[in-house]
Amino acid sequence: MQDKYFDVLIIGSGIAGLSAAIAAAEKGASVAVLSKEKEITNCNTNHAQGGIVAAAQGDTSEALIKDINSAGDFLNNNAAVDYLVKNGAPLIEPFLAGKIGVPFCRKEDGHYDMTREGNHSFRRILHVKDYSGAAIEEHLANYAMKLNNITILTQSTVVDLITNSKHSKDCQERYKSTKVIGAYYFQETTGKVKKIFSGSTILATGGVGKLFTFSSNTSGATGDGLALAERVGAEIINCEYVQFHPTVLFNRDIKDFLISEAMRGEGARLRNRKGEYFMKRYSPQLMDLAPRDEVSRAIYQEMENDDAGYVWLDARQIKHVKLEERFPKIFEKCMSAGIDIRKDLIPVVPAAHYFCGGVKVDLEGKTSVNGLWAAGEISCTGVHGANRLASVSLMEGFVWGLNAGLSAASASKSLTDNELLKSIPDWVYAEKQELFDPLLVYQDMSMITKIMWNYCGIVRTKNRLGRAISDISYLRHRIEKFYSSAIIKRNIIELRNAVIAAEIIVRSALANGQSKGCHFLVD
Ligand code: SIN
Repeated sequence: MQDKYFDVLIIGSGIAGLSAAIAAAEKGASVAVLSKEKEITNCNTNHAQGGIVAAAQGDTSEALIKDINSAGDFLNNNAAVDYLVKNGAPLIEPFLAGKIGVPFCRKEDGHYDMTREGNHSFRRILHVKDYSGAAIEEHLANYAMKLNNITILTQSTVVDLITNSKHSKDCQERYKSTKVIGAYYFQETTGKVKKIFSGSTILATGGVGKLFTFSSNTSGATGDGLALAERVGAEIINCEYVQFHPTVLFNRDIKDFLISEAMRGEGARLRNRKGEYFMKRYSPQLMDLAPRDEVSRAIYQEMENDDAGYVWLDARQIKHVKLEERFPKIFEKCMSAGIDIRKDLIPVVPAAHYFCGGVKVDLEGKTSVNGLWAAGEISCTGVHGANRLASVSLMEGFVWGLNAGLSAASASKSLTDNELLKSIPDWVYAEKQELFDPLLVYQDMSMITKIMWNYCGIVRTKNRLGRAISDISYLRHRIEKFYSSAIIKRNIIELRNAVIAAEIIVRSALANGQSKGCHFLVD
């Protein structure tokens, strides 16, 4: 079987991965996009409801920069925020609407119908009703699939990045600086681990939401990129900042379903179980549109006070739009649970939503390791600081996706070093391979998610984090041990990545004694 060679390898197919693929391919590079899923559109981008920040009339760069920084508790990287707002925002409409045809909603007068979310001082968010992410993802995927120099490999889970220094059989390579030159990936259809070589590799694997019991994320958000990056020694930062979205539907049968913040942007309000609008006590100015970390903590506190498993979101007073037309996805999902959002209160809870830290990158998306770029949720540009402003994630994923794609394509020299490639062995399977009972894998995964939710969640204490690190370290040790003798499958690869990512997050949280943004500590 021939190994595959590409100028640019992209791991992940959300907004960052596909924007990178399009940018690199249009620069003439041969590109491979790897996705764990059967459908490349099965990713977190697809679940994003609110929309994407763009340049709005009457708005200013200064105002947007101020909002991003205040949401981020002023831990933001000024250079990255400035770049995103000044260079990125003007690209959004021409590329996404103009070039690839995303049908952002318009008002009757033809102007875009900008919506609003928490901590935004303007209506500046382009949206496609309440399925903005799905619309963007579908158009990006359709566009990318038409480009001849993009190859899409689905049901392909990366096991490890290949580097010269770690994998080459030529011992001289270990004395050279480490360079990523491709990946070993598990092909679900054959059950085999294959090699793919690349001049440049981009991590666009999405976030870590599935490390927590309650999350708004897709099932693939298991922190793969973080673990892959750690294993090749890339710099990783800000991992204590995991954002919890205030409003995910609380329902016995429907899991992980987001109730968009845009609903509060249009006037919905939170009430505790006694029926009180409580946000005015926590944030008298911004109330229900305070930054997400503040709203999530207020809900947590109200749930504690009332010994309740949820609070209510009240959308009944919204009259300037028809809820079933403006929020059709939420309307239908709630209706399927017997909740008519026009007449009923919606039970909601906070849930893990977005990873503000990750693999450290510069403005081009370059990591600290040669040959490796990162973009989107798994990267840390510093734009979000300690807590992300709503609808800036799609924007960042898109802008850094383009930048990483262009930079990776220009840096990718054709793979002429045949000697190096020949020195990379095929995947070595464990000698005595064991098929692990899926229940064991499931149990370990649920232990990780419970530890993360209870000890490293919305409200953290030193004691809880201390407990988390000892439990997670023990699990890591056990999982690494059984991984080395397991028959490789997607669930085992994800479990191994998840425990590594969880450990990175807990260690960062333990190392930072200062409450800031979504890293909130009490004594
Ligand atoms: C939402 O629609 O509430 C999510 C938007 C975001 O996370 O930026």
